[in-house]
Amino acid sequence: MGKFQLPLLASLVLLAIAGARCSDPELTTDFAVPDGVDASKLDGNFFTYTGFRGGVSTAPGETGSKRATVVEFPALDGLGISFFLMYFQPGAVLPPHLHPRGSKLIYMIQGSLTVGFTDNNNKLYNQTLQEGDLFVVPKALVHYMANLDSDKETKVIFSFSSSNPGSIQLPINLFGSNIPSKVLEKSFGVSSRVISQLQSPHKVKGGH
Ligand SMILES: *[C@@H]1O[C@H](CO)[C@@H](O)[C@H](O)[C@H]1NC(C)=O
Repeated sequence: MGKFQLPLLASLVLLAIAGARCSDPELTTDFAVPDGVDASKLDGNFFTYTGFRGGVSTAPGETGSKRATVVEFPALDGLGISFFLMYFQPGAVLPPHLHPRGSKLIYMIQGSLTVGFTDNNNKLYNQTLQEGDLFVVPKALVHYMANLDSDKETKVIFSFSSSNPGSIQLPINLFGSNIPSKVLEKSFGVSSRVISQLQSPHKVKGGH
């Protein structure tokens, strides 16, 4: 191998790794103009999202959320960021789930929050967050949240490193997706009766 080939090869490998880490494709313009829109007509309104006004409504014991991904807020296209507001009533649980395309920052506006994620070695990293705390969940790792320690509503902001982080909710993904019962029985080492119990809440709602 020539004198200059090794550093070149090393930088190409580094570039490939850096490219693979990006969540959203990089823009080659200041911002992305939606198809069919006249860029000269865009103004501050295009970069404003008003959907969070009035906060979030929640039922007793439940969570409620509002989101601004590229779907709700097209100006985020290509910027690699998105934003959620989520409230947890006392006792509310957000079941284990993962976001395949984005890491998540959790910022505590009010109350306390039990949070945890697991890694590839099935190790749990958990915390009880208080008002003002920031917690990060690395991209694509399974995590959960709950308001278990307080009689006060918890309010949090999620900020994602993707304009469309996606969300795979494990309970409905496994039990609301028509995976054959036999496969689930073997996987969990339980009877078909237990599997249909686990499937039933998702059958009522219908998977998505
Ligand atoms: C983390 O989880 C462990 C095991 O469930 C528990 O004993 C511990 O109290 C938790 N820590 C926090 C800070 O919530």
